[in-house]
Amino acid sequence: MSLAKVFPPKSEILFEQYQKLYRQSIENPKEFWGNAAKEHVDWFRPFDKVLDGGFEHGDVRWFEGGKLNISYNALDRHNPNDLALIWEGDEPDDIRKLTYGEVLRKVCKIGNALLRKGVQKGDIVTIYMPMIPELAMTMLACARIGAVHSVVFAGFSAEALGQRISAAKSKIVVTADVGRRGGKTIGLKDIVNDALTKLDCNSVIEHVMVWERFYNAESSASPPYEMKDRDIRMDPLVAVQRPYCPPVHMDSEDNLFILYTSGSTGNPKGLVHTTGGYAVYAKMTTQVTFDLQPGDVFACVADCGWITGHTYVVYGPLLNGSTSFMFESTPVYPNEGRYWDMIQRHKITQFYTAPTAIRLLMRYGDEIPKKYDLSSLRVLGSVGEPINPEAWRWYYEVVGRSKCTVVDTYWQTETGGHIITNLPGITPMKPGSCTLPFYGIDTVVLCPTTGKELTEPDENGNFQGVMALKSPWPGMARTCLGDHERFLTVYFKPYPGYYFTGDTVSRDKDGFHFIIGRMDDVMNVSGHRIGTAEVESALVAHPAVAQAAVVGKPHEIKGQSICAFAMLTAGYEESPELIKELRGSVRSEIGGFCNPDLIVITPSLPMTRSGKIMRRILRKIVCGEIDSLGDTSTLADPSIVETLIEKVEKL
Ligand code: PRX
Repeated sequence: MSLAKVFPPKSEILFEQYQKLYRQSIENPKEFWGNAAKEHVDWFRPFDKVLDGGFEHGDVRWFEGGKLNISYNALDRHNPNDLALIWEGDEPDDIRKLTYGEVLRKVCKIGNALLRKGVQKGDIVTIYMPMIPELAMTMLACARIGAVHSVVFAGFSAEALGQRISAAKSKIVVTADVGRRGGKTIGLKDIVNDALTKLDCNSVIEHVMVWERFYNAESSASPPYEMKDRDIRMDPLVAVQRPYCPPVHMDSEDNLFILYTSGSTGNPKGLVHTTGGYAVYAKMTTQVTFDLQPGDVFACVADCGWITGHTYVVYGPLLNGSTSFMFESTPVYPNEGRYWDMIQRHKITQFYTAPTAIRLLMRYGDEIPKKYDLSSLRVLGSVGEPINPEAWRWYYEVVGRSKCTVVDTYWQTETGGHIITNLPGITPMKPGSCTLPFYGIDTVVLCPTTGKELTEPDENGNFQGVMALKSPWPGMARTCLGDHERFLTVYFKPYPGYYFTGDTVSRDKDGFHFIIGRMDDVMNVSGHRIGTAEVESALVAHPAVAQAAVVGKPHEIKGQSICAFAMLTAGYEESPELIKELRGSVRSEIGGFCNPDLIVITPSLPMTRSGKIMRRILRKIVCGEIDSLGDTSTLADPSIVETLIEKVEKL
């Protein structure tokens, strides 16, 4: 299948309708979003103004004057007998099904438990939990009482967790005794204990609230982890709470959650999302992109520790009243048919995963998915990184049996929801392209040097440059926690007048977008966004490393792999044990998911005379592109290039 193959929409009329509505949404955003906000969300008090503020000062406000509660919208307004959550744990026979009524009552009880322990509106509650229904319900309980949740992915190490608790000044951490993944048990409570011993502001923590996976009210046995005075067992506390908790009437611009994400420099940023705009955007993008219909079982297999889990496991599907499928395990446990088996057993209608998982499963051959009845599927989603046409085709033909739409959804933690994606049955599909912007999203391609919108196509008829947006949308993040200047510097100052995504794009003559990749020092490893600077500082945290440089290298399955170069401190010598220790340092500073594929010990790094590391050269070396290294004469010591080429070739 050539890249150029286009899958026409089911109906030209629907595509024309999209184009017309899209134009209206751009020409008159206030009318478009005002109507959308009324249609998709129930407000306790109507908003006075649709949009105020702008990019220049980063003071965008949506639906001011409006009051709402997102947990009310996600739970109370739906039929209590409908299924809200289907959960499948690490073991395929570990299944729970919860109705909207059950989830509402439990969320209320959790909300009351948090209130009992002193959580107040605006407090930041850190959540460090495995993918169990209590994670989604704890997030919703925070939203119900006006607390701001900060979910930290449970693959992060104690060090990284401690840093995030500390930055958010959380008084409360909610965790679980253990997580399970691929047959392994991970002691999350122990990691929290460890994180708290490392914290400078340990005194800020008032309580650690612990869900116990195997809690038994009848048993008097003490828990299998170390309990401290500040610890509270969640199950018995929640059990005695009243099952109703009035939803706090939040201002549209009150904070809803914080989510940390990696950038090119410094510590991870705590991006802040607010209530009204996010609710409207999560609700609408889920419904429209996935063509949600009553009775659908919507499965997004992302972790709630990332934005995809926030918007498309918890908020989006529940705001729509559909059944959200929540998954704890991996695509290959207990075997490579796990996803297909789940789709068959639960009659999943939408399935949403990352290209890295598709590429991994593709390797095991067509026979595995072919063994299962996948006829319930209508829409297949892809997210997190560009999907290569081979993986797209396999997803479309082998998983979707050429009957489903593949939606390639391009977005970011910062955008809250999809910003560029095709719509089922409406937009033509081009494999490898996330296609056209969502309603209200004004995409532009900028020249990286002048910062002006490109007006002339290149020799192939494409516009290639910086992916940017021209006007605000309701789902956008509003600030970086405690550092608004950083928010402006990263997103609005590089190209004044525009939101800068950090990505490069190529837009073809039909206006279809092909995301090329990050322009900054951010890697995308198995759909995880990892800053090179974070891995470098994890390596330098080891006393043997004087200086480190990290680059991403294309990887067949993971998208990119991490390659690290380390200069040793005097007195240390290269050895297999040391390499192992350095891997250990990355694991303990960030988490196992950031393990470098390659660690090269080097006598020095390619630096300019002013001391700037030339990562471009390192990237070329790890990719074996030594014929196109470019100008190396500006290096302080050009001979290091030869040494590094030799070392990498030997590894
Ligand atoms: O580089 C883009 C890539 O993932 C980045 C955002 O990462 P994160 O904030 O962790 O959110 C991931 C889930 C939304 C983007 O800047 N990216 C995301 N989706 C796509 C993508 N690249 C190409 N195609 C996509 N569909």
